[in-house]
Amino acid sequence: MRIIVIDDEKIKRTTMTDVLNKSGYNVESFESSVAAITHFEKFGADIVITDIRMPDLDGFEVLQKIKHVNPDTAVIMITGYGTIESAVEAMKLGAFDYLTKPFSSDQLLLVVKKACRFLELEIENINLKEKLSDIYSFHNIVGKSKVMRQLYGKLETISKIDMSVLIEGESGTGKEIVANAIHYNSLRKNKPFIKLSCAILNESLLESELFGHVKGAFTGAIKDKKGRFELADGGTLFLDDVDDIRPSVQVKLLRVLQEKEFEKVGGSFPIKVDVRLISATKVNLLEKVKKHEFREDLYYRLNVVPINLPPLRERKEDIVLLLNHFAKKIGKENLKFSNDALEAFVNYDWPGNVRQLENILYRIVAFSNSDIITKNMIPLEISQIHHGGLPINFNGVEKIQFDKIVEEIESAAINWAYIKAGGNQSKAAELLGIKRTTFRDKMIKYNIN
Ligand SMILES: Nc1ncnc2c1ncn2[C@@H]1O[C@H](COP(=O)(O)OP(=O)(O)OP(=O)(O)O)[C@@H](O)[C@H]1O
Ligand SMILES: [Mg+2]
Repeated sequence: MRIIVIDDEKIKRTTMTDVLNKSGYNVESFESSVAAITHFEKFGADIVITDIRMPDLDGFEVLQKIKHVNPDTAVIMITGYGTIESAVEAMKLGAFDYLTKPFSSDQLLLVVKKACRFLELEIENINLKEKLSDIYSFHNIVGKSKVMRQLYGKLETISKIDMSVLIEGESGTGKEIVANAIHYNSLRKNKPFIKLSCAILNESLLESELFGHVKGAFTGAIKDKKGRFELADGGTLFLDDVDDIRPSVQVKLLRVLQEKEFEKVGGSFPIKVDVRLISATKVNLLEKVKKHEFREDLYYRLNVVPINLPPLRERKEDIVLLLNHFAKKIGKENLKFSNDALEAFVNYDWPGNVRQLENILYRIVAFSNSDIITKNMIPLEISQIHHGGLPINFNGVEKIQFDKIVEEIESAAINWAYIKAGGNQSKAAELLGIKRTTFRDKMIKYNIN
């Protein structure tokens, strides 16, 4: 159990911390309630023990903020000054219990134990209902931030109704995993789930991929081919990077959505299909509509239900949960993180979002046998926050492994260019002033994609 103690009086704070530490709890103590809240927002805690009278934020404000971030946290208030009213008020606001000053170590331990038992019961309860992960996850999507929890509810609903969904989000924010979740939670789950990225394909290739072609429709069409719409019949079609679809194909796509039929390239009769469409984009599609680069009527057909996946830097409270999730995914259930390592992970801005976090963790694990990840195992590009200027600063570093550093910088640069170029390798290579083939080799070397 992880406990946060907040009290501006030093003696009381250290006494409580010592008592709890000796009983085996993992305790962080704070003199300032503002600092405590910041810490809580980043790392969470199971139990928060807070004094009521404090100079910056008082105990009630602390209680409200904690409950706002995570309603499941047990908050224990320390009331003094002989007022039962404040204790009652605290309970009304959702405090778990209160301690009246002066109190003994035993009284403190008793209340904390009670809170632990309560939390454990609650967890067991949830386990019985489904899996613990269910409140913080939905079909492999993990996250406990408010936006993510709201998303689970929304996904539950829209999975069951056959509407077109448009998922917007930066690279690596989980668009594909959301599309998967919608399909496999829908009534169509036993029917095909077909994917197609519209990014790389030129106009005529895309058209034939979507709708298929008949033998002889163009040079190279040596036999009839089914398109993705036909393959997805009865199921779901996931169109990635829809913003890249050229106007001529946009018209055809609109027709399938409206009339539920289309013709193969070179074909002469319409084919009827029943397909649910989920599309995804890394750009703001409405902006493209305003610039007349994307058909407005098609936009509204695709975007019946919008889903916006915020970048990871805007939901940092998900980071620790995601790290644990990915550790489990590779069979490292017991992997632990030191506090400074977690801090480094949380402080970094993650331009490549969840995918980058996942890759970095796998890289760290691949390079070490340890069950504890400490800050010095994290690549410098992540653990050193830099504000422009030289990307890496060696001040205070004791020893440098030259090869490793060079690899880290190289991989960071490759990653940066790849993201900046929106996944376009030629453009990325150009940004770095290297050959496309060199860029590709490095991408493979550093497992970036
Ligand atoms: N909330 C999440 N919980 C668990 N895993 C996640 C989450 N979001 C993303 N991932 C993982 O991160 C990786 C990238 O996710 P995904 O492919 O869905 O992103 P994307 O938005 O489609 O990226 P791109 O725009 O580059 O195609 C995947 O391995 C996915 O499983
Ligand atoms: Mg994707």
